[in-house]
Amino acid sequence: MISDNGIPGDVVPAGRMAGGEQPVLALPGGLQLRPWRSDDAETLLTAGQDPAIRTWNRFTVGSREEACARIERMHARWRAEIAAIWAIARPDGPAVGLCGWGDIDLHGGSAEILYWLLPEARGGGIAVEATRRLTQWAFDDLGLHRLRLCHSVANPASCRVAEKAGYTYEGTQRSALLHSDGWHDQHLHARVAGDAG
Ligand SMILES: CC(C)(COP(=O)(O)OP(=O)(O)OC[C@H]1O[C@@H](n2cnc3c(N)ncnc32)[C@H](O)[C@@H]1OP(=O)(O)O)[C@@H](O)C(=O)NCCC(=O)NCCS
Repeated sequence: MISDNGIPGDVVPAGRMAGGEQPVLALPGGLQLRPWRSDDAETLLTAGQDPAIRTWNRFTVGSREEACARIERMHARWRAEIAAIWAIARPDGPAVGLCGWGDIDLHGGSAEILYWLLPEARGGGIAVEATRRLTQWAFDDLGLHRLRLCHSVANPASCRVAEKAGYTYEGTQRSALLHSDGWHDQHLHARVAGDAG
């Protein structure tokens, strides 16, 4: 990490993501994290209509074409090593949620987690399990150093996911997220490599 001239180099060398396939990762309860497929477009369309996902993820999808383009973009972002987004699903089943890393900075060694579940998948702790599994992947397989989890202060369910997945509350960032009802403050939670889970 520290090069000959004493200046820190890349925390994670470029190519570690693009040089391989996005893995399939097992979750408890027979679920798995797997790459998004073109036949998951319906799930994105449904998510784009869900009031909670629209509000808290600021996510909208207006058409099947847009959903397919988003899925293509997820794969392009893996290859560009700037995002790693998984579908949550049963093997050979439809996607019921999304979890993954945005804002990946291999050079600096950080990323921010994103997640949502369709309403029928909520209430069973799946987001916590997916966050824990992708945290392990980000530290142990990818080699990142610092992982963020941010949410509006008006979203207590997401705050609970952060706490249960071992993300320490670090502070409140003022007017950090623009929602339809105005600017929201957001909680910053983070885990650093070596933190107890
Ligand atoms: C946030 C979300 C992913 C959590 O999904 P989940 O895995 O089903 O989470 P659970 O329902 O198991 O709840 C996790 C914890 O939050 C708690 N919780 C849920 N709703 C809550 C609320 N309104 N207020 C306080 N706590 C709440 C649960 O009780 C649980 O804690 P516990 O296990 O100690 O009881 C899901 O609710 C969702 O997709 N919401 C809409 C989109 C969203 O908020 N995305 C996150 C953007 S940052």
